[in-house]
Amino acid sequence: MRIIAGSARGARLAPAPNGVRPTSDRVREAIFNSLGQFFDGGEALDLYAGSGTLGIEALSRGCDKATFVERSGQATHAIRENLTRAGFVKKGEVLRRDVTEVVERFVAEGRRYDLIFADPPYRIPPREMEGVLGRLAALLAPGGRVVLESGGPLAEAIDNLKGVSRRYGGTVVTFLERLENTMKIAICPGSFDPITVGHMDVIRRACKIYDHVVVAVGANLRKKPRLPAEERARLIEKATAGLENVSVEVMEGLLVDFAREQGARSVVKGLRAVSDFESEFEQAQLNRTLYPEFETVFIMAAAEHSFLSSSAVREIASYGGDVRELVPEEIQEIVQRLYDTSADEQAATSDKG
Ligand code: PNS
Repeated sequence: MRIIAGSARGARLAPAPNGVRPTSDRVREAIFNSLGQFFDGGEALDLYAGSGTLGIEALSRGCDKATFVERSGQATHAIRENLTRAGFVKKGEVLRRDVTEVVERFVAEGRRYDLIFADPPYRIPPREMEGVLGRLAALLAPGGRVVLESGGPLAEAIDNLKGVSRRYGGTVVTFLERLENTMKIAICPGSFDPITVGHMDVIRRACKIYDHVVVAVGANLRKKPRLPAEERARLIEKATAGLENVSVEVMEGLLVDFAREQGARSVVKGLRAVSDFESEFEQAQLNRTLYPEFETVFIMAAAEHSFLSSSAVREIASYGGDVRELVPEEIQEIVQRLYDTSADEQAATSDKG
């Protein structure tokens, strides 16, 4: 067996000791093809490491460090030998320990790994396997993946992990990610000063396309809003309380930074008329320059909302006009009161006498 690719490509590995079932070259190649071939740094954890072929292949393909956990003395000896052969002695940490015990300790220490390989003996007691699998989500760095080898089909959703299984001869490989990484998350940003029934229509429709929608309330806007961001967010929370897959957040900085923090690759905006297009087009282009994988998706406003805007609501309410039909039912009375500046002006005039 040899290292297939990367800086140690071609390095010949020591024969696997008795009782160790090393991942064949073919399966190893298929695993790394699925993972994306090469890595730009990152840490790998190789559990039930056997002779360490997966972790060493990961080092060869760009990982900075790999930790190998294996109970058998003969196998840990083989891992050290293989690290020497591949030139990675300084990058490898070899622990001759029980996997369950090490996993518990690493979770307590807050360790995080970009890649976790687990190739447990096929006859491992199910309870031990469940215990280890249940802890792996806690050890995964953001965007990290777990690669699990087994003799037969495995559940494709374990604890907070979700993934896909592929069969290579007698080996089934399951690739798992944190559930939130597999979710399609979209951001619905805006000033929402206040949220209108037009915004609600766009949010509701976005909820049907995406697993989760984060309504982002702009805090630092070019125009000074009537209400602080926290208050605008509270109104949206009330209005969206009936939508299960919506959350509301205040957004302080750039939309692209906020989207990255939230794990979102899409922004959803409503388009009412051609007049919206120019500014939206400019923002979409700028955002894509800053975050190339970021897509702006436009939802066309319903015809009945095409002339509705927050500024119109503010203007009507400021003269004491009735805006109840224009904002979500749950917040009609509050918006009417909070945005009616005519009441403040009357009070100020009567104060002056
Ligand atoms: O409802 P609005 O006023 O059209 O919302 C504007 C908002 C909040 C979506 C926009 O100002 C925004 O994305 N602000 C965050 C700051 C940012 O990323 N600016 C660069 C985008 S061009």
